[in-house]
Amino acid sequence: MQEVIEITVNSTSVAAEKGKSLLRAILKAKLPIATSCGGQGSCHLCRLTVQQSDQELSPPNEIEIKALGNVCIQSGMRLACQIMVHAPLTVDVPPLRKKRKKR
Ligand code: FES
Repeated sequence: MQEVIEITVNSTSVAAEKGKSLLRAILKAKLPIATSCGGQGSCHLCRLTVQQSDQELSPPNEIEIKALGNVCIQSGMRLACQIMVHAPLTVDVPPLRKKRKKR
């Protein structure tokens, strides 16, 4: 049976499967988060900020470094699809951007 870890996304508690991606947990909870690549690491839309983690997260991988740059990473920004959940954590997901109306 899959171990479940409680994470907090924009003040909402979400059950995440241990070892699975943070993006998967957020989407499964039907919370809004931008994605167009389905977690492949190519759209760079699933940005969020890690506020707190009960366990040190794995360091950003090459995909995150390329997508976010060192300044954003140092401020706690990560890609949800690249973080595997292993311990409780708290994240802030930015609001979805509204689509521009075509003129
Ligand atoms: S979902 Fe596309 S990069 Fe994370």
